[in-house]
Amino acid sequence: MMGKNPLWITAEEGALIIDEIVNGRKDTIVATSQTKKYADVQVLFIDRCTRCHTVNRVLKQNKTREEWQETILRMRDNAPELFLDEDIPILTEYLTERGKMMRDDVAAQIMVEKCLVCHEVGRILLERKSRKGWEDCVVDMRVLARQKFQKDWFSSDEFNLIVDLLVKTQGS
Ligand code: HEC
Ligand code: HEC
Repeated sequence: MMGKNPLWITAEEGALIIDEIVNGRKDTIVATSQTKKYADVQVLFIDRCTRCHTVNRVLKQNKTREEWQETILRMRDNAPELFLDEDIPILTEYLTERGKMMRDDVAAQIMVEKCLVCHEVGRILLERKSRKGWEDCVVDMRVLARQKFQKDWFSSDEFNLIVDLLVKTQGS
């Protein structure tokens, strides 16, 4: 899993996750239903926020602090047993501060996987386009990729992340 997205899970975090899985097994054996506390905010975020959907879903939109809090509270309604009260401000702070950066990291990683299979990065970095221009370009790429690989090559969440990053770094 780390190999699939090296930017997302560092070696240290990998060790934490493995630890978590091993200890989690012990918990299941003694059948505690208690929600765990985490010292590390990123591990807390991954545990609470990636059970039901991917990180791409979480990072699809930029949000303000208030909007993040509203989203997190709504997510808790889906599964109150997953969340401690004290998680809410910690997660809100984390996503407000780190959300934009994570979004760009994730988008860059998706571009490496999805765009560089067919051509060199220079082909992309030389271009400047408006939002409309990038949308049209990435739609064309999606069609080409579907023909070549005989399957859908990126999801609509991935499409939006890629276009937003291109507009930000290479808008006209
Ligand atoms: C128990 C399952 C569950 C968990 C856990 C969960 N989500 Fe969700 N999430 C959903 C469902 C279902 C939807 C789609 C319906 C909706 O938008 O409420 C969704 C949609 C979203 C959306 C898109 C809609 C919007 O408001 O922008 C975001 C962002 C999101 N989740 C973030 C999070 C974050 C952050 C966490 C961790 C704090 C989290 N989710 C944890 C089930 C979950
Ligand atoms: C299935 C292979 C394939 C994939 C995947 C692919 N491309 Fe392309 N791309 C092409 C081909 C073929 C051309 C046209 C030949 C040329 O002009 O070099 C092209 C041309 C381009 C161009 C120059 C033409 C223009 O519209 O400005 C850009 C920019 C570009 N691609 C960006 C991307 C981006 C961004 C992605 C990822 C979302 C991507 N490509 C994914 C095959 C691909």
